[in-house]
This record gives sequence, C-alpha cells and structure tokens, in this order.
Amino acid sequence: MSVEIRFLPDDVVVRADVGEPLLHVAARAGVSIPTGCLMGSCHACEVEIEGGDSLCACVSGMPSGQSALTISLFVDPSW
Ligand code: FES
Repeated sequence: MSVEIRFLPDDVVVRADVGEPLLHVAARAGVSIPTGCLMGSCHACEVEIEGGDSLCACVSGMPSGQSALTISLFVDPSW
C-alpha cells in the first residue's frame, strides 16, 4: 500500500508507504520541514493537510485508506 504525497508550495510528488513518518517522506522528496522538539509539543514542524487540518509532521505517519494526499508547508516570510 502506498500513498501519493504532493508537497506544496514546491509541488513535489513522491510515493510513501502507509505509516511511513512524514519527516522521512519529506526528506526523501527533498522538502525541508523545520523541526524542534520532535515530540509533538512545539509545533515547529506543523504542516497543513488537504482540507485545512494541521498536524505536527514529527509525530505523523502516512494515513491508510487514502491513495493521495496534499500537504502544504507553512511558508514563514521572515525566513
Ligand atoms: S518538532 Fe516539535 S512538534 Fe514537531
């Protein structure tokens, strides 16, 4: 089972295995997600998934039951 992940705003598409950590998928795609605590508490790694929900990439894996997912990185203009 794999999921097609599209990262915005760069529009990079990669295939990921269900349950694969989101940070690994992003690294494989060459997309960098900022991280801090890696424990789900600081929200530095927060990304927005299709539909407007946000989640912490460091504690999230690829969902099952979906064949494609779009993930938007928050672009911080001060960086
Ligand atoms: S790195 Fe802190 S919540 Fe993910």
